[in-house]
Amino acid sequence: METLNRPIIGILTLHSKKPFEEPAFFRSLLKEGERLGAIVYLFSPKDVLAAERKITGFVYTDKWVQKTFPWPDIVIDRHHYLSKSAAELEPYFTLRQQSLFRFANHFLPDKLRLHGMLMHADFLRPRLPETLAYSPQELQRMLEKHEMVYLKPLKGTGGRGIVRLEMKNGNFLFHSRNRNRLMKHGKISSWNRLFEWLERWVSDGEFLIQQGLQLDIVSRHIADMRLLMQKDEQGMWRITGHGMRIGSKKSPTSNLHGGGRGILTHKILLPLFGHERVEAIVSECFTLAFETAKTIEDNCGPMMELGLDIGIDRQGAVWLIEVNAMPARNLFKQMGQEHLYRLAVRRPLQYALFLLGAMQADSL
Ligand SMILES: Nc1ncnc2c1ncn2[C@@H]1O[C@H](COP(=O)(O)OP(=O)(O)O)[C@@H](O)[C@H]1O
Ligand SMILES: [Mg+2]
Repeated sequence: METLNRPIIGILTLHSKKPFEEPAFFRSLLKEGERLGAIVYLFSPKDVLAAERKITGFVYTDKWVQKTFPWPDIVIDRHHYLSKSAAELEPYFTLRQQSLFRFANHFLPDKLRLHGMLMHADFLRPRLPETLAYSPQELQRMLEKHEMVYLKPLKGTGGRGIVRLEMKNGNFLFHSRNRNRLMKHGKISSWNRLFEWLERWVSDGEFLIQQGLQLDIVSRHIADMRLLMQKDEQGMWRITGHGMRIGSKKSPTSNLHGGGRGILTHKILLPLFGHERVEAIVSECFTLAFETAKTIEDNCGPMMELGLDIGIDRQGAVWLIEVNAMPARNLFKQMGQEHLYRLAVRRPLQYALFLLGAMQADSL
């Protein structure tokens, strides 16, 4: 196709070790971009030749090839910024602070600051588990109050560095996943030993303590909902899809990367709560999603897509666990919903094109 007048969308990402962290997703994104008539390429901060207004970006033919591309009209930010070293992130944050590009999406603050932000919304407040910064004193208070708590790194992703702690008959039972997601379970018999153990656990970063939710609704496996909401080609928020993730045996987390499985929401919830109740629960999840998006955009600026982790506890109460600004979409593939996977890949590109259209209209 002719290059002239085709919109150019750059996808900002990190490529350090392997070519890219999410090669299958990126290949789908490039393919969909082609179908939409856009020029789409991937690039990382080090590929930007600002003085020449050119970028040595990547596309996929039979393999990844790097070529020189014209400057993008708009950039979709897919540079993961959590669970990364400061050295890896420095060029990224430098780039985001400059006004070299028009970005289609903003990023989110860490889990604790986000929680503080969401607490201001009346609808969200009762649906957020109690959350605060880690300290031994707060941990003791939270365990005495809730019996089960979660410890999580403020900048963690994919279920890394998470501990579930339960107080039972004077003992502490823990189920954990370290930074490499390796699982470990055990029992600790005194507060002192518990604090010693946690001292080491939290030594490599900042952590939060969170009220534990009873999410073991599927034969003692942890289950939660992943909901993907995206802006469409008219810039409106739409719920692209959702599904339940069932954690592997004894896992404190449900994340697919940690061995979780994706199953259709109704298949999990119907036998537990019945038709009417499920309709009400799912509709509450949708309201939760729209309220979350509104609160985030009021505070952080326009977003493009959000992946919400939603807890539905044994009583059917709905809780917001986490919000991801650069969500995965493999869940749909896992559930056999190929059409939703494609829609989920296409929407960010359509939204970027919508923004470009709006920009051109502005400049007329
Ligand atoms: N407070 C909690 N109560 C019960 N389960 C939780 C809680 N927090 C997290 N989990 C489980 O751990 C998973 C990972 O936690 P999350 O906060 O989403 O961190 P990450 O960014 O690593 O995905 C959740 O999807 C859920 O299955
Ligand atoms: Mg999560």
